[in-house]
Amino acid sequence: VDRRQLDTNFFDPSYVEDPFPLYDEIRQVGNVVWNGVLGGWVVVGYEECLSVVTNPSGHFVQLSGDPELTFWFEAPNMIGVDGPEHRRLRGALAPLFTRSAVAKWESRIRAVVRQLLAPMVAGSDSFDLIADFTTLPTLIVSEMLGVPEARYDDFQRWSHDIVTNLSFGHEDAESLEILRRAAIEINAYLKEEIDRHRRERPDDLLTTMLDMEGTDAMSLEEVRSTAVLLLAAGYDTTAKTMSNALIALERNPDQRRLVAQDLSLVPAAVEESLRWFGPVQWLPRRTIVDTVLDGMEVSPGETVYVFSAAANRDPRRWDHPERFDVRREPKSHLAFGYGPHLCLGAPLARLETKVALEELLRLAPEYRLRDLDFGRSMFIRGPERGIVEVGVRAGA
Ligand code: HEM
Repeated sequence: VDRRQLDTNFFDPSYVEDPFPLYDEIRQVGNVVWNGVLGGWVVVGYEECLSVVTNPSGHFVQLSGDPELTFWFEAPNMIGVDGPEHRRLRGALAPLFTRSAVAKWESRIRAVVRQLLAPMVAGSDSFDLIADFTTLPTLIVSEMLGVPEARYDDFQRWSHDIVTNLSFGHEDAESLEILRRAAIEINAYLKEEIDRHRRERPDDLLTTMLDMEGTDAMSLEEVRSTAVLLLAAGYDTTAKTMSNALIALERNPDQRRLVAQDLSLVPAAVEESLRWFGPVQWLPRRTIVDTVLDGMEVSPGETVYVFSAAANRDPRRWDHPERFDVRREPKSHLAFGYGPHLCLGAPLARLETKVALEELLRLAPEYRLRDLDFGRSMFIRGPERGIVEVGVRAGA
């Protein structure tokens, strides 16, 4: 069979601006299409993406495990490994991140959101989307791990710098420089923090990781690498999910009205925002065994880009996928990936986004966003700048 090919340029600013027309163009060509610009396979169909990420026959491995591409991880952690190593490095943490385990954070999350929104309650008309609102996930993941408040700004910057500049070997010189600096700073800092934890043994996640024993035991380097992963994965993606949910609701005022009038719809609105406008555009895998995907012959060594954001609008799975509809029949989507590497932090991220939306809609059901800037990340998409205007207040 001939190789289906379309050289969509994902590095063009228009892609970050609005990726969905490009996903439709690719879909016209096929669900699995070679891309000469990326030098890899682009997968946009839901079923095809699902089969790669669930990986039942072990045909694919994580590109995040390549130490040259993700050099800020100075030792393995769960996102880069597969099979028994993955079970060891994830298994030990999994019980701490279940829905029931993170539920105990809800009151703390609500207190933080109320604190962030306090100036608006006091009468201020607008606030900064990034500095005043989406800092929530940094605060929570930092408190969980047990890093002091004085370093929260640094953590936020490191997470943002890593996640936003990362593109698995496609970075330009400027991005590489930012990544190198963040890698050095975050590792130097966490080395100190791990030493302090070994001396003082505060009751938090870092100490828990250091204390793991038997088959769960992690080396000091693995604990540090896992902490880098949690800090990097725990802020930027969630901040962008919160912002993207606000955008989705503002662009669909009828849906926003429904949700604002009945806050029990917030969890459904969070899921629909993740499907319709989730931040993660694609997940990278490397093929290790000859594989046929939708009739295409994929060879060992080739990179497969699982375009989860495109799969989440596959018309074979969702009726009118371009419609944002909070009352859609619930169906699993790929915004958190799927299968063995399904986002460990998904229950926490869902809880944070839910509480943030509840509190904001209660205060400002007709908020307005302005000066949004999506930056240039072609991997994790969401605003990097923006202002929220409170507008008409609830009950006003
Ligand atoms: C809404 C916000 C978030 C989104 C959209 C998101 C998305 C994802 C996705 C798509 C993956 C799969 C990666 C792959 O298959 O290669 C993933 C993995 C992961 N995420 Fe998240 N994430 C979010 C929030 C968080 C939070 C808050 C944490 C932790 C505090 C977290 C920790 C992780 C970890 C540890 C993994 C690796 C799991 C593994 O490889 O087994 N994420 N995330």
